[in-house]
Order: sequence, then structure tokens, then C-alpha cells
Amino acid sequence: MELRKENILIVDDDVNILELLQRHLKSWNYHIFKAISVKEAVTILRDTKIDLLITDLKMPEIDGSELIKFASEHYPNVPKLVVTGFPSVQDSLVAIKSGVVDYLNKPFTKTELEAAIKKSISQHDKSAQSQRDHLKKRESYGEIIGTSDKIYEVIQIIERVKDNRATVFIKGESGTGKELVAREIHYQGKFSRAPFIAVNCGAIPENLLEAELFGYVKGAFTGADTNREGFFQAANGGTIFLDEIGNASLAVQSRLLRVLQEKEVTKVGATKAEKIEVRVVSATNSDLRALITKQRFREDLFYRLTVVEIGIAPLRERKDDIEILVDKFLFKYGIEYKDRFVKIDQEALSVLKRYDWPGNIRELENVIQSAVIMSDKTISVAHLPAHLKFNISEHSASLEPLKVVEKRYIEKVLRATGNNKTKAAEILQIDRKTIRQKLHD
Ligand SMILES: Nc1ncnc2c1ncn2[C@@H]1O[C@H](COP(=O)(O)OP(=O)(O)OP(=O)(O)O)[C@@H](O)[C@H]1O
Ligand SMILES: [Mg+2]
Repeated sequence: MELRKENILIVDDDVNILELLQRHLKSWNYHIFKAISVKEAVTILRDTKIDLLITDLKMPEIDGSELIKFASEHYPNVPKLVVTGFPSVQDSLVAIKSGVVDYLNKPFTKTELEAAIKKSISQHDKSAQSQRDHLKKRESYGEIIGTSDKIYEVIQIIERVKDNRATVFIKGESGTGKELVAREIHYQGKFSRAPFIAVNCGAIPENLLEAELFGYVKGAFTGADTNREGFFQAANGGTIFLDEIGNASLAVQSRLLRVLQEKEVTKVGATKAEKIEVRVVSATNSDLRALITKQRFREDLFYRLTVVEIGIAPLRERKDDIEILVDKFLFKYGIEYKDRFVKIDQEALSVLKRYDWPGNIRELENVIQSAVIMSDKTISVAHLPAHLKFNISEHSASLEPLKVVEKRYIEKVLRATGNNKTKAAEILQIDRKTIRQKLHD
């Protein structure tokens, strides 16, 4: 029997309809994924490559039209077919506006269903080229969200390294997504079935790190009462992510060098080395070159670790990503905490865009998470932490002396009071003489 490749996701709150659709689709050899709520559907869309989304419109909690809207934004390449028992002009308009390929009314015959599915999938095939172009500007790559050129450059490097074992070194401020990039290098590539092991070299006490990384044999040191594998052995075939690599002691560094040069590890206390195939991705937000000058980091290891370098720009240098990040976090936390989509008003969004985000994406995600909890349906400025509202851009060229700002404000109050100095003095809570002085300074 010919096996079709297409994965079809069907979403309906009515299990009978789900069963019926499943029976038909199975008989045409499609792979079926079922969801009885939008929430479930979103999880499936996130984890699976779906070729066609079939959804009902009227559903409790989150409506099918919201799902269509979401899928059109986040998965524009997936064709969509709406099946509904309540055909109304309004519904169809909403659906078509948000990019639905086809529309099928209940009750439908098996033939009508098959025709609609084929039409949706074939229209999709025809526009494959334009979709490939769209890929270039897709909103996310795995879990990495962003459409800025800076993020696109990062994604292009990931594409080049994901299927080989070249060492990758990731630089970036705290919260810029270094660990996330390391994960995508692993999970998007062909070794993704092998383990990904993340080790924070800064969090493990120096004297333990060596044994944790490379393993040890019984009797190697006090307390070593059995043989143990290290993180390297555990990551064999896959990827080890060495975070805060600048914290590794010189002893660990020389062992690491050996792993990279000889492709073998020796457990602490062992004499024999074991062969190993591991991709090493490392990261730091400290300056490794400065550590080299101070002879705290081996230069030869540095070059081994940095065959490919990825620099992740801080969020303030790619502010055009803020809106889409906010959008995705609103969706994520809206579903998680409120079982619905939470929106943000324009004013609050512009506060977020003005802020400089010293804690980068981690800080933005935390702000949205707490704002979702604090708000009902829409986030407004009142739901944002105070320090965001009064943010002064440290990188702004327009910082001015207090005197200048003061003078401008006094002039503004005077204009507002029709040049009534007594009134202005009252508002400013200074006397008229001071006003005159400050204006003529
Ligand atoms: N481009 C992005 N899209 C979506 N989420 C992101 C992005 N970048 C970072 N994040 C999220 O922000 C948080 C911080 O990311 P991550 O831990 O990878 O940063 P980091 O650079 O390793 O930070 P640190 O230096 O503090 O360890 C994570 O929850 C991550 O999922
Ligand atoms: Mg990190």
C-alpha cells in the first residue's frame, strides 16, 4: 500500500467528528494527529512537522479562528482547512482573511472531504517556492525567535555547523540565548538523537569539575569508591555544551585539549584512554582573550574550541525582534496561565521597545511572564515594572544636562499657564524670582 508522507493535524472539540475524520484520512494513508483543543493543537504544531491543519471554528475556551490566526502567523507554510457546522459569512471572512486555503461545511461527504484536502495540499505545493523564500524570513528557527538580520546570521551559521562536529564557540551577553543556540545546533542537526549534555563549568566546584567531566576510576581520590562515567562519556555521539568555559581550571583545560586533539578521554586516575566522538560547543560572557593574556586560559585550547565562532548581539542592538518575541511570549504564557491569548496595548509595547534590556531576552521573557499574570486580557503600561517606564537609554546621544531640561520644562509650564508667572510658580513650587533666574541662566 502506498504510504503518503503528509502529516495532517485535525482539531475539533467533538470526538465523534475527530474519529470520523481520522477514519477517512487513514483510509487515504495520511498520518493523523488529533487535538481536542487549540491548546493541544499548538503543542503538536510546535513539535511536529504538519503538512495540513484541519480545524473546527466553534470550540470552547479558545476559538478555532484564533488557532488559524496563530498558525498563519507562526506556521505560514502550513495550509489550513476550516471545517465548521456554523457557516456564517462572518466566519468565512475571518478565516479567509487569515490565510485559509479552503473551507468545508458540515455535514460533508467523504468525496467533498477528499477533494478539499487534495486542493489544500496541492495549492500548497504550487506555492512551495514562495514559501522557501519565506523561510528566509521566518519568525523562528526551532526555539529561536527573531527576524532581525543579526539573528538570521546566527541561524545561517547554525545551518552550516549542525551536521558536523566542528567546535563552536558562542559569545554573548547574559540572557542573549547562548544555551538556546547550543541546543539548536544539536537538535537541528543529524546527531540530534544522541545526547545533548549541558555543563555549567562555573557552577561546579573546581576540584570536582575534572571528575564530573571525564569520569573517574575507583580509588582515584578519597571518596571515589566506584568507577564512574563523566559528562563526556555520557555525551558520546552527541554534543557537550561547556558553559562559562572561562571557569575551567588549567588541569581541566589540558584534558580538554587532549579530547579535542586525540578524540579520546582518560578518566581521572585511569591510565588507559577511551575513544570518543563528541561535538564540543562552549560559551562565555567573559573575555577569553583577556584570560589568555593573564595566562589563565590556554591559547592552544582557545583555538581548538573556536573553529567556528558565533556572536549573539544584545537585544538593544536588534530591537526589531522585540515585537515578535513579545508576541510569542504572550502566546506561551497566555496559554500557560490564562488558557487564552493575552494581548498588549500599543503604549505598553512602545515602552518595551524603548527599554535597553540589559538582561536581554531572559529579562524580556520574565517581564512578559509576570505581566501576563498581573493582567486580564490586555497588558497595559500599569502591568510593567516601574524601572522600564523610566528607562533612559544609556546609549542615547540625547542625554542632556539637568539645567537644560529644567529650563525647557519651566517654559512649557509658562506656555500652559498663558505666561502667568504666579500660576507657574505655584505649579512648579518655586517662587517667581527663581523662575526668572532659571530662565536667564
Ligand atoms: N531568540 C530567542 N528566542 C526565544 N527565546 C530566547 C531567545 N534567546 C533567548 N531566549 C530565552 O531566554 C532565556 C535565556 O537564554 P539562554 O539561557 O540561552 O541565555 P544565555 O546567553 O545562556 O544566558 P547566560 O549568559 O545568563 O547563561 C531562555 O529562557 C531562552 O529560551
Ligand atoms: Mg547560559
